[in-house]
Amino acid sequence: MRGPRARAVVVWVQAETMQTNDSAGFTTRAVHKARGFAGSTGAVMPPVFLTATFASGNPDGFDYTRSGNPNFRLLEQAVAALEGARYATCFASGVSAMTAVVSTLQAGDVVVAEENLYGCTYRLFERVFAKFGLRVRYVDLAQRSNWGVIGAERPKLVWLESPTNPLLKVVDLAGLSAAGADVGAAVLVDNTFASAYLQRPVELGATLSLSSTTKYINGHSDCLGGVVATNDSVWQERMVFAQKALGLQPSPFDAWLTARGQRTLALRMDRHSATALELARWLETHAGVRAVRYPFLPSHPQYELARRQMKSGSGILTAELECSAAEALAFCRRLRLFTLAESLGGVESLVCHPATMTHASVPAEVRRQVGISDGLVRFSVGIEDVEDLRRDLEAALHA
Ligand SMILES: Cc1ncc(COP(=O)(O)O)c(C=O)c1O
Repeated sequence: MRGPRARAVVVWVQAETMQTNDSAGFTTRAVHKARGFAGSTGAVMPPVFLTATFASGNPDGFDYTRSGNPNFRLLEQAVAALEGARYATCFASGVSAMTAVVSTLQAGDVVVAEENLYGCTYRLFERVFAKFGLRVRYVDLAQRSNWGVIGAERPKLVWLESPTNPLLKVVDLAGLSAAGADVGAAVLVDNTFASAYLQRPVELGATLSLSSTTKYINGHSDCLGGVVATNDSVWQERMVFAQKALGLQPSPFDAWLTARGQRTLALRMDRHSATALELARWLETHAGVRAVRYPFLPSHPQYELARRQMKSGSGILTAELECSAAEALAFCRRLRLFTLAESLGGVESLVCHPATMTHASVPAEVRRQVGISDGLVRFSVGIEDVEDLRRDLEAALHA
């Protein structure tokens, strides 16, 4: 018979050894990676460490939650394993993660960015960091003929998104990572729309893979978060520094929710992708729809690249309706299962009108140039039954 103290140690060791090694499959890693810190209780899932501070000299070396908390350290281990990266740092939101990266730059530095970016990324560059002397060149990087700008500008950072928000352009991550490396630029990929299950930028050569975990990684639309994964120890140190120096850390409870959500990432992504592909094929044949964009439709301009780079097409699709902005919004409001709301990547279906919502912060002129028309509608396809979603779309289009 073991005494209580010995039993506690055995339980602790079991909890620790349940951590998997990196050769385990994606879902095995997702389920088992974020499970430590069970302590002497044998809790199968970690508790939420709702504490601002830690007693000095504790064995795990925690001091103050802004610079480290078990819940976000566990999430960081899990996301690093999913991204196939050595390190990951978690933040309070996707925008906090971007702020951490951009805060490492200096006045006069240049960023070369894909021209179709999430609206708040554009706003962060133009309304916040431009006044500190950052210069951003926006280019259509889906066109290989434009890649020369990387050699010409010699940027500190190349900022990519793929698929892009909201146009779902797909850019060549391996090719652009090599082009960035040639001039010593770090290459960041905003991987929010794909998630690490469908695409792993660091494995394709990118320096940094950034995700808003608010979307697919958490997947339940109940908290915000962001993460930056990398193999580069210098960048990792910069991210950890930004997390505590700028106060960009997530709350322990949000990190706990996100760690819970990521355990089912693979299952959800398979379902999102299958349903979105079926709806995209159907919408493409619908008379009221001018065009449908979805990376795994043969009509997508980068279809072949998407098939090489991504496991499946993800859950976002966009449709261009034959109508004005007011009519497009009215269509969105008629939907019953797709809620008209910002955000994406949750189990529930959402619809968004980028010109008046996510990309309202982008000047109308710039929206027109990059192809965000007034009739463009973005669907985040949830995990509901596909027939119900199709009926909802049909009814709203018919009206
Ligand atoms: C592609 C992309 N990146 C980053 C973000 C920002 O994430 P958050 O809302 O978590 O700050 C979003 C949000 O919609 C996004 O769509």
